[in-house]
Order: sequence, then structure tokens, then C-alpha cells
Amino acid sequence: MSLSLWTHCDAATLQEGAAQPYGLMPDAALVTEGEMIRWLGPRKHLPDALKAQCSTEHDCQGALITPGLIDCHTHLVYGGDRAAEFEQRLQGVSYEDIARRGGGIASTVRATREASASELERSGGIRLRALMAEGVTTIEIKSGYGLALEHERKCLQVARNLARSHAIDVRTTFLGAHAVPSEFAGQSDAYVDSLLPMMHTLHAEGLVDAVDVFCERIGFSVAQTARVFDAARVLGLPVKLHAEQLSDSGGAQLAADYGALSCDHLEWLSSEGAVAMAQAGTVAVLLPGAFYFLRETQLPPIDLLRQHKVPMALSTDCNPGSSPCTSLLLMLNMACTLFRFTPKEALAGVTRHAAQALGLADRGVLAPGMRADFALWDVQHPAALAYAIGANPLRASVYKGQLR
Ligand code: NIG
Ligand code: FE
Repeated sequence: MSLSLWTHCDAATLQEGAAQPYGLMPDAALVTEGEMIRWLGPRKHLPDALKAQCSTEHDCQGALITPGLIDCHTHLVYGGDRAAEFEQRLQGVSYEDIARRGGGIASTVRATREASASELERSGGIRLRALMAEGVTTIEIKSGYGLALEHERKCLQVARNLARSHAIDVRTTFLGAHAVPSEFAGQSDAYVDSLLPMMHTLHAEGLVDAVDVFCERIGFSVAQTARVFDAARVLGLPVKLHAEQLSDSGGAQLAADYGALSCDHLEWLSSEGAVAMAQAGTVAVLLPGAFYFLRETQLPPIDLLRQHKVPMALSTDCNPGSSPCTSLLLMLNMACTLFRFTPKEALAGVTRHAAQALGLADRGVLAPGMRADFALWDVQHPAALAYAIGANPLRASVYKGQLR
């Protein structure tokens, strides 16, 4: 397999426990072999014999190299938009009230059911490419705007097709328990009953990598969440949870009991919930875009998460209702300004910890043996990635060893 050498760069390896902040390595050299990183270190330590084996050399001209960014929580495939609801919210109607009146997620479900797969692929592709243009090399995409077998299947197939047509890794999550569809109005338990065979079928079709639930007073109860998680466990699928976004429903505790990969949102997380997540190794995924767009005032308890050493990831939550956002870099800035993340925590949140939130051990840090997914930036220091608002200093990105 051919070897490539990357030089004249500084590397932010993001390795855990590195002596330097960000795992910063000035004047680094990186050797890729096919889809993997073969060697990484200070350029002066690059063995001559290895250098001689490299068939290509890329001069990075002083770029900063980081792991490829990972957007670990998105609802990227959907029909329509919710701009009219945005106008209503600006007039003072709350997100929850809109949902209770049959708008919110339900209105996107109507638009998504009406949309053809090719229309969903076209609109999703535009959003996907915007994220890729900022160095995203892995993305999670949830279903949850179909809420019936054929429409959930359509959305998950669109996600798989996007992966085939773009140089990015897509992980799919089944979020059938996102809302109760109108045909099950007032019968949420019956809808949960219907989800179990649906999950089974979609999993058998190879469309599901993980399972998520919206556990909330306008979503599903803890008991209903447990039923979905039990079914996921039978299928051997990892679980994640939309938890404590609008209220403390005790979802984080339940998710931790099931060894969930992540709990996401968490504005109302209790200290018991944080302790349970720490013990279970569950990642906290913070979503500053939704906090900002819904004009929330309840901040997620960042100090509590730090105190219990819960790994913190960041994501766009790209969706039409609470975070119509296709900039992961903007989330770094918002996490710092709104949540008081440090830029170091922010960058770890879209690399190492985002990989952990997806259960992926082969990416998120730069190290030999990891996937050669990385981004080259026109910045002097990694903090600059969180510092700028609406800038995109990406020079190039590499996916499985190939410039894309
Ligand atoms: O992550 N909270 C639930 N789901 C999405 C929003 C869905 C919507 O409003 O369409 C979220 O915020
Ligand atoms: Fe979400």
C-alpha cells in the first residue's frame, strides 16, 4: 500500500493526557498508509527509512492539522423548513406551545412524508456539503421525521445514499421515538408498540447503527424510553438519548443504566444524572445551537460535568426546528461564549469526545493506527478555531487518506 508524507505543519493531536494543550506538536510530520495513519511525530524524528518509502509528499505550508471534525448529533434529512414557526416564536409563542398545537416536529413530519427520496437527498446533500466544507469527516444522521416504517426507511436510505455519494462517513440513528405521529394521537403507548417491529425491520435492512429517543414531556416518558432501549438491547444496538432538554425528566439516569453512548442537550441535568453518566462512561453531548435558537436561559451544568469528568462533546443538532445550523465551527464559538467551554474543551468536543459519543474508537485523535481523517487549517493556533465567528479557515481535508 502506498505511503504519503505530510510535512510543514503543526499538529493538534487531541490525544488524551498529552503533555501539551491540544496535544500540540510543532513542525510535525505525518505518514499515511492507505486509509490509516502510519506514523506521526516531530519531523526531526521521522525515520529516514520510512521517509524513503513515501511515494507522495504534501507540503502543508504551515497549516495546522487536526483530526477530521465529527458532528455526532444531527437530524440532517428532513423536508421543508420551519421559518414560519420562527416568526411565531419571535412573536412570543413558545417552542413547546407550537408543538402542542400540532406544529413543531409534526409539521416537519408532514413535509418529510410528502417529500420524495430524491428531494430529501438533494436538500440533505446541500447541508451535508456545508458541514464537509468545514472539515467534517464523520457525521451522525438520525431518522425521526418519518415516524412510520416506509418514511423512516426512506430517510435512513437517504442517509446511506448520501454516504455513498460523498467522501464522509455517515452513522445512522433510528429515532422513531421522536414524536407521536397524528395517526397515533392520544395513544403513545400503542405507537411505542409499533416502533419495536419497525426497529427490527430497519435493523435487518442494515439501516440502523444506533437508537435514540426524545425523552421529554412533549416526547416520550422514561418508561416508554426503557421499552425502546430494551428492544435495542435485544438487537445489540447501542443507545443514545435526547435528555433533560426542556425539563429534568430523569432520562440521563435511565440512559446511564442502559450504558448509553451519550445523553444529549442536558440543560436540566441533575447532579444524580451527572454522577450516573460518569459511572456509565456516557458522553454528554451539548448543543449550543438549540440553546441559542430557542433562546433558552437554563444553562447546561458544565461545572458539574467537569467535576464528575463526564466527557463533553459538541454538535450542531442540525434540524429545522431547534437548530437550523450547518456550521460546526460556529458551535465551537457558541460553546465558549454561551456555555463557557474552553477552546480546548470545544475542539475535543468535536473530535475525541464526539467519536466516543458515536462509539468509534478509530478516529477523533491523530495517532498511528487511527483513520487518516484530518483537516488542514489556515490558523496559527487551535484556539483560533473557536475564536472566530462565521469564518471558515479550512484549507483542505483528508478522508481515509485521500484529499477531498
Ligand atoms: O434535538 N429535541 C428534539 N429534537 C430536535 C428538534 C426537533 C425539531 O424541533 O424538529 C432537537 O432539538
Ligand atoms: Fe436533536
